Amino acid sequence: MTEATPGPFTDAMTDLRGRIARATALCVFTGAGMSAESGIPTFRDANTSGLWTRYSPEQLASPQGFRADPALVWNWYAERRAGVRAAQPNAGHLALGDYARRHPGRLALVTQNVDDLHQRAGCPDTIRLHGDILRDDWMDPCIRTPACSVTQAGPGTPPRCADCGNLLRPGVVWFGEMLQQADLQAAELAARECDVLLVVGTSGAVWPAAGLAGLARRAGAYVVIVNPQASEIDHEAHFRMADTAARALPMLLAGV
Ligand code: OAD
Repeated sequence: MTEATPGPFTDAMTDLRGRIARATALCVFTGAGMSAESGIPTFRDANTSGLWTRYSPEQLASPQGFRADPALVWNWYAERRAGVRAAQPNAGHLALGDYARRHPGRLALVTQNVDDLHQRAGCPDTIRLHGDILRDDWMDPCIRTPACSVTQAGPGTPPRCADCGNLLRPGVVWFGEMLQQADLQAAELAARECDVLLVVGTSGAVWPAAGLAGLARRAGAYVVIVNPQASEIDHEAHFRMADTAARALPMLLAGV
């Protein structure tokens, strides 16, 4: 594996830009570090404000935690939703949006992020493996026929169905829950079919998402990891850029 640290262009980076320029299929797989420079906290950065170093994922990101204290969980997500709405795409998101505009049909963007910054930066078809924090869902299937709409939920913390008492919840995938199979299959197909996979800002700690890097590599893709810190999937990389998303992506994608 080759490694590059922040600084002037190296031969390895020129080689990588050449590979991206020649790629007929580029897949980019992002995690919380992608949005860190937009001010959205990551989950596992021990040295910063990683959410899971301050809060309990069992309490705040599991069906059991929600059932135990729905108001606590709802209010925590309300704060995170406000943070997402106030955030703006950074130079990394914008570089991906610009690449997608210049090369229609060439980029498959897969994210673990539940914010909407890729979409706002010009990548509306982003595959969102872990859901959408700004969307409301019912906690349980509604027992009414026809099922009631989430937009008709009655007041409360969380809001609930006036008839069956069903609770609203944020539309994210919690620990112990299945990913949407169609999303996972689309992501796996993109990983298998790409020439180059850029893995940006993920610890690689959460599966099945983390498996995309190995899948792409075994299928013959050139795998690049962009992360200022080590990740759990570094062994899958042909090339590691120890840099941030907002610095590295414009460098890699501008003009290619
Ligand atoms: P993590 O918080 O686990 O990892 C964030 C990674 O981003 C770390 O490896 C950091 O080193 C790196 N990083 C930090 N700042 C960066 C920057 N400016 N540029 C590039 N990289 C940077 O986040 P994820 O890997 O996304 O699940 O976590 C995976 C899942 O765990 C999340 O989707 C979430 C969480 O529980 C759900 O919401 C279901």
